[in-house]
Amino acid sequence: MKVEDRIIVALDYDSAAESLNLVKLLKGKVGFFKVGSQLFSAEGPPIIKKIIEMGEKVFLDLKFHDIPNTAAKSAQVAQKMGVSMLTIHTSGGFSMMSAVMSALSSSKPSINRPLVLGVTVLTSLGTPDLQKLGIQDTLSNQVARLGSLAIEAGLDGLVAAPTEVSLIRRHFGSSLLLVTPGIRPSGSPLNDQNRVATAGASIEAGSDHLVIGRPITASSNPVFALEELLTTIKNTNG
Ligand code: C5P
Repeated sequence: MKVEDRIIVALDYDSAAESLNLVKLLKGKVGFFKVGSQLFSAEGPPIIKKIIEMGEKVFLDLKFHDIPNTAAKSAQVAQKMGVSMLTIHTSGGFSMMSAVMSALSSSKPSINRPLVLGVTVLTSLGTPDLQKLGIQDTLSNQVARLGSLAIEAGLDGLVAAPTEVSLIRRHFGSSLLLVTPGIRPSGSPLNDQNRVATAGASIEAGSDHLVIGRPITASSNPVFALEELLTTIKNTNG
């Protein structure tokens, strides 16, 4: 994989104008642009269409979590919009995940199937939060349990926090796609992220793709920030 393709830029904005400015600046220099619930709630499907028309790939991060029929139909709508990657919650259960995978595979052959990633335990949750949810097991066992279920249901990969990447790789081997948010260049502000790693460390631990938000979007020179990240990744053994 080309180093540039490893980068997913998170378009965490409220407006199409700001998002499309960044897409114009970074066009052809990264693998995917991530549209999450903030931008999608503000701008809806047209923002996806515009990014795709600019020749770029969209990762739709809406983390579907619903009854199997609704989750499957929502994923099919995303597929028709032309997204290349999407997320679902593994805690939606085996039936929900299987329904999504079979709905996407049953679409007309002319429509590419997006890659489907499972979210296990949100990186904002810790062991005390799991206990309050009635889950007595450790966080890593819960991640492993949900990860196994996702693989059984045929998902392509998982969203993995930097601190979970090695564990998941050890557990599930190399065929699984691992996408990692929470990337911070060393010495840069953590913002609200807790479990962070540098781009290089995350690739070395086994991530395929890195989701980068503020290290690029909050930079006064996003192109330079991206180039620095690419250089770090090129200098590591991934
Ligand atoms: O700005 P920053 O680099 O922290 O942005 C990380 C992006 O990854 C955000 O869009 C955030 O919603 C997303 N994300 C995350 N943790 C997860 C899943 C997604 O930070 N577990």
